Amino acid sequence: MLKPLRSHQKKSQSKVFNNSEPEVSMIFRQLFDEESNTYTYLIADKNTSEAILVDPVLEQVDRDLKLLEDLNLTLLYCLETHIHADHVTGTGELRERTGCMGLVPENAHTPCASGYVKPEQLLTVGSITIRAIETHGHTDSHMAYLVDGTHLLTGDALLIRGCGRTDFQSGDAGELYDSITQRLFVLPDSTFVYPAHDYRGNTVSTIGEEKRLNPRFVDIEQPNPLLRTRQDFVYLMDNLGLPMPKKIMEAVPANEACGKRAKALAN
Ligand SMILES: [Fe+2]
Repeated sequence: MLKPLRSHQKKSQSKVFNNSEPEVSMIFRQLFDEESNTYTYLIADKNTSEAILVDPVLEQVDRDLKLLEDLNLTLLYCLETHIHADHVTGTGELRERTGCMGLVPENAHTPCASGYVKPEQLLTVGSITIRAIETHGHTDSHMAYLVDGTHLLTGDALLIRGCGRTDFQSGDAGELYDSITQRLFVLPDSTFVYPAHDYRGNTVSTIGEEKRLNPRFVDIEQPNPLLRTRQDFVYLMDNLGLPMPKKIMEAVPANEACGKRAKALAN
């Protein structure tokens, strides 16, 4: 038989259902595409119902639209961290179906974009501020986005215990080293790191963790690991011997056309 609640249990139960607790206005959702191991991020302000999607995937457009509808949100922007080589962006499709703007980093070869994001530019979604941080090196037009000063969307520049490759799409290992060490590793250690991909089941890290444990940037075999030198990092990146992404021949030209060319080919 169930025992009656004691007085302290009653108190804690009423707290659980208490609706007067201060509400956090930011919605932050991490969404996953299994085929390309891509994370898409939905960021929105609950109070104004304005939303932004970062790095949407073409095959997941219906999922993203359903979530926007479920949460009663209006999509203002689709934002890319860079021109992807491993999946086709959902931006063109989402722009067509919602009227949102499709934004890409400055210098990206995408004449169809609605706008170009400059380094240090601030985007606002309701009361949420998103700062663009230039992080070239994986490609020659890559941005990370710092959301409200706490959540860093690192694209393919910095991954959890890894980093983006630098052997195609005008990649440059030295430039990536400078971007990460001078622009991302200077952020507070507590900053959350949310990458564009993960292949090992990780979802989030922090700048402090990556400075200490990322084997691309520190030699974790050493008893007191120090940051690798630029030269050491470039040598490591130049000798990874990775295979080409499966979709590169389709994805890059499609993404330079905001994802629309792939649809035309598929039909
Ligand atoms: Fe990439």
